[in-house]
Amino acid sequence: MKVGILTSGGDCAGLNAVMSAFAKAMAAIEPKIEICGIINGYDGLINRKYRMIKPEDFFDILKLGGTILGTSRQPYKKLIQVEENTKAAQMKENYRKMGLDFLLVLGGQGTHKTAAFLSSEGLKIIALPKTIDNDIWGTDFTFGFHSAVNVATECLDRVQTTAASHRRVMLVEIMGNKAGWLTLYAGIGGGADIILIPEIPHDIDKIARAVECVEKQKGFCVIAAAEGAMDKEEALLSKKERMQKRAEAGEKTASNRIAKAIEEKLNIETRVVVPGHIQRGGSPSPYDRVICAQMGAYAAKLAAERCFGVTVALNSGKINFNNLADIAGKTKLVTPKHELVQTARDMGIFFGELC
Ligand code: F6P
Repeated sequence: MKVGILTSGGDCAGLNAVMSAFAKAMAAIEPKIEICGIINGYDGLINRKYRMIKPEDFFDILKLGGTILGTSRQPYKKLIQVEENTKAAQMKENYRKMGLDFLLVLGGQGTHKTAAFLSSEGLKIIALPKTIDNDIWGTDFTFGFHSAVNVATECLDRVQTTAASHRRVMLVEIMGNKAGWLTLYAGIGGGADIILIPEIPHDIDKIARAVECVEKQKGFCVIAAAEGAMDKEEALLSKKERMQKRAEAGEKTASNRIAKAIEEKLNIETRVVVPGHIQRGGSPSPYDRVICAQMGAYAAKLAAERCFGVTVALNSGKINFNNLADIAGKTKLVTPKHELVQTARDMGIFFGELC
């Protein structure tokens, strides 16, 4: 049996851990398994760039961050909806030329959309859900998410002491453009006073009032704001319009604008901290290592059962799968009534929209 493996989209901790688990379980099921490591995601499949990798070469990469195969962003629109579908045709042709029995695809939302398309075109595919954004439909968690939660939580922990010493407001900008999961989890875990996520548009005057209250109570305030956090006016715009408006104002995110407004309205020193790609780097957390092991080993079982056109999922602690066709193109966002949002509200965490 010959499998092609590719990792696509933004990297995260756990990609190597999943491949390691898959290779171990696959080699146990099928000792003669051949693995084509496809280089830099779909780009490698389009250009037939790969190297044969012995299963045992995957065995000791559990702790290694990033991906040993390299990755690239190949937005679905550009990849599949291009004129005459040239790239899709190249991928199908190379899959055939490489003599693959199936393709293991590790990626996020866009990667899954392309995988669903290739599957509908006859390629045998098993996908695995990765992303720090945790926004893939049909799985409670994606791998990489909890590792990023750990980093973002530590950032919030660390700014608290300096915020307290200086009696300042500290705003930590957390990754997540569309989905606020990472900010929500880290915000709760890191003891933020205010959590701002894209799914709950905020009102700057109300944020200022909340900051004033928190500041009076304890002398400092910590805000966890998603990079995609937006105010109510911006929420009425399309993404393109919003980006254009922000570009004109010389800003990519709302963080500095919020900080400036707080300083102007309340005269309290406010600092913005952006951990950025640190949230994607480094070793997977122990919890991620465990779900990577579960997901990778399960993918090998699916391959042994010739169950293709699917993506591995974790639901209420159980590993199962979804059909790619059922989940592709859907985004799992935080809902304003989600029980964790409610938990946060119960603890007095403010989301920027209520009085
Ligand atoms: O992979 C998800 C993500 O980290 C988002 O949270 C973030 O908005 C984006 O990728 C950043 O992308 P890039 O690495 O291309 O700057």
